[in-house]
Amino acid sequence: MRRALELAERGRGLTSPNPMVGAVVAAPGGEIVGEGVHLKAGGPHAEIEALRAAGRYARGATLYVTLEPCAHQGRTPPCTTRIVDAGVARVVAPLVDPNPLVAGRGFEVLRRAAIEVTVGLLAEEAALQNRVFFTAMRERRPHVTLKAAMTLDGKIADAQGASRWITGEPARARAHRCRSEADAIVVGVTTVMRDDPELTVRLGEPWPREPYRVALDTEGRTPPGARFIAAGDPARALVAVGAAAPEERVLPLQAAGATVVRCPTRDGRVDLGFLLGELFRRDVRGVLVEGGGEVHAAFLDAGLVDRVTVFLAPLLVGGRTAPSVVGGGGRELKSAVRLGPLTITPVGDDILLEADVIREPRGA
Ligand SMILES: NC(=O)c1ccc[n+]([C@@H]2O[C@H](COP(=O)([O-])OP(=O)(O)OC[C@H]3O[C@@H](n4cnc5c(N)ncnc54)[C@H](OP(=O)(O)O)[C@@H]3O)[C@@H](O)[C@H]2O)c1
Repeated sequence: MRRALELAERGRGLTSPNPMVGAVVAAPGGEIVGEGVHLKAGGPHAEIEALRAAGRYARGATLYVTLEPCAHQGRTPPCTTRIVDAGVARVVAPLVDPNPLVAGRGFEVLRRAAIEVTVGLLAEEAALQNRVFFTAMRERRPHVTLKAAMTLDGKIADAQGASRWITGEPARARAHRCRSEADAIVVGVTTVMRDDPELTVRLGEPWPREPYRVALDTEGRTPPGARFIAAGDPARALVAVGAAAPEERVLPLQAAGATVVRCPTRDGRVDLGFLLGELFRRDVRGVLVEGGGEVHAAFLDAGLVDRVTVFLAPLLVGGRTAPSVVGGGGRELKSAVRLGPLTITPVGDDILLEADVIREPRGA
């Protein structure tokens, strides 16, 4: 199963809206006779690849697969049929697939075909590997990661609004890796106007997927010449405006190729829950929220942040009015957003801090 999880990693950032999946076929003696990985939605599923590689050795073997095999006809035929036909004796998986189209039916089909099914091996590791997919299936909205680069005193820009470059080159490269794993990158209109970001994935190598580039802009103030609109396929540039955004501002954005999504407002600003629903409908499973502080605060206050990823730079900038990583009205310490254990990774001269948001109220 560890080998299967390792194989699944090869699909990181490539499989959405599907999960990452790896599979291994082991002969009765334990020898690996086939391996497979899911690398692209619409492409072959991991278990099919592994069975193909195993050929006749699949008969009587054990199939280790990192997620429940599907039993429905999707873009590819049901995997359960192929598993049964291959004569596999036993299937071991960590988890039930939370996708309502699967949700236990895959295991049921296999058991009915007299295949021994064992569920639960390395379940925690498998759930963490596909945390984006699992959150999206459970909540019926995309998984949201809040991402920022800040100084040691928590500032994301100086008092004049300049934020380039807080972190060094290795951290910026890592940030692009984060983007490559997301299906949509979201920023506030102030960030668009001050920084004019492209919101594209820029790795050393070409990247086959293009996340949506999204601006939160209640009044439609985004300049039609904003770089994120033309930085890639303009149809993947979304401007989320309020229902009352003036038509004379919306039309030039549409003329520039951007997709304008009219959203209801909540407290006078774009309703984030509604926007996430719209993104989910467009097959977005993982969202990266890249600031600024007001937008971070709004997502946190709406209870819509699942994970926090912060690059911490060895700089002190100060300034009463310099924006910090979370703006808004702030909270009392007793109702602070609490995070799970921090993962701490040095990246060049900076430090990457990552943690999941704890959702249960204190003491629950
Ligand atoms: N270091 C970093 O990682 C980083 C990353 C990004 C930005 N920055 C810096 O952050 C600064 C901008 O941050 P900021 O906090 O002033 O602005 P921001 O978060 O970029 O944008 C806030 C604006 O977004 C619009 N918005 C629409 N719907 C919203 C909603 N539901 N919740 C919150 N906002 C919504 C609002 O304007 P409307 O009401 O008009 O729509 C709001 O004023 C810039 O100086 C930038 O350089 C730094």
